[in-house]
Amino acid sequence: MTASAELEIFLVALPGLESVLCDEVRERGFASPRIVPGGVTFRGGWPDVWRANLEIRGASKVLVRIGAIRVLHLAQLDKRARRFPWAETLRRDVPLRVDVTCRKSRIYHAGAAAQRIATAIREELGAPVTPDAELCIKARIEDDLGTFSIDSSGELLHKRGHKQAIGKAPMRETMAALFLRHCGYAGHEPVLDPMCGSGTFVIEAAEIAVGLHPGRSRRFAFESLAGFDAAHWSRLQTASAPKTPVVHFYGSDRDAGAIRMSRDNAARAGVSDFTTFRKQSISELMRPEGPSGLVIVNPPYGDRIGDPKPLLDLHAALGRTLRERFSGWRVALITTNAALARATGLPLVAPAQPVAHGGLKVRLYQTGPLP
Ligand SMILES: C[S@@+](CC[C@H](N)C(=O)[O-])C[C@H]1O[C@@H](n2cnc3c(N)ncnc32)[C@H](O)[C@@H]1O
Repeated sequence: MTASAELEIFLVALPGLESVLCDEVRERGFASPRIVPGGVTFRGGWPDVWRANLEIRGASKVLVRIGAIRVLHLAQLDKRARRFPWAETLRRDVPLRVDVTCRKSRIYHAGAAAQRIATAIREELGAPVTPDAELCIKARIEDDLGTFSIDSSGELLHKRGHKQAIGKAPMRETMAALFLRHCGYAGHEPVLDPMCGSGTFVIEAAEIAVGLHPGRSRRFAFESLAGFDAAHWSRLQTASAPKTPVVHFYGSDRDAGAIRMSRDNAARAGVSDFTTFRKQSISELMRPEGPSGLVIVNPPYGDRIGDPKPLLDLHAALGRTLRERFSGWRVALITTNAALARATGLPLVAPAQPVAHGGLKVRLYQTGPLP
């Protein structure tokens, strides 16, 4: 594994947010990123893989393509997988698992294919193959071409390592970061979430303003690959110094437990000095002193069979408070339900395309600065 090797690097996106992720990848200085089904791809070397895992806020995973073989039947897969140069990327002392998908190919039995690949790696390289290993080799057999990729991230990237406490319906950090970006937030204006739950939007916004890398506190699967350069990695981690933001970040929620969680999560993320969390309900919400900024909120969605009246009333109260007290602020509302968005009475423009979230489709509704 050479540091300069040109690899195809694939960032998995939340469906519906590919183009927002592509903007982030471009802005972070990665070469010519392209939107492809399911994510964003660009070419680079292993240091780009490490940096993408460290710096990109919106990707769910970073996959790295390590090669491809043509395979017409299982015996051929067995033979070619044995000859594949696994040792260039994998270490014989690091356990791994193999995950196979088959499409439009003569080999259609993913389990049998996975067994051939696992045996080849175990016998030729000597690495243990176990179903619960952190490191995952993904083989995609499509049109009789077997493409091998490595999941360089390990755990999904929304697991930054700071949010140990979560509420009932937490927003993923990756999704929160992309919604903030979609609203044009770049770290220079205050952000307020009046139904903050575990504090995801507020903490993400503060981290962006401070310039903290999302992957600064966690480990990644690539750290146990052959050719991993720990000295280079530690230089990447310390390449930029945090700044003190000129604006402040606010979260509130009527639930005392949510406020406790938010404060603990903010402390672990190192943004306590720039965030304020307060237990209060929507009706008590006041506009903070200082410049106007962005209110971003994902209120409870409810379910389809429950009585919609209390939720409609809650959205009406939210909209009224914001219209009366937040002149000059922009509002971003994330909801599954257009009727709830309308109930706010806010001057919302046409929503962005839907994004899959926990089995539901959510949409981002936005206003310009409120009159
Ligand atoms: C879908 S959750 C928000 C999740 C949050 N974005 C996160 O990442 O954890 C909705 C939140 O709204 C809060 N909430 C509901 N009614 C409220 C009200 N009237 N005033 C303030 N907060 C309220 C709930 O306590 C809950 O934490």
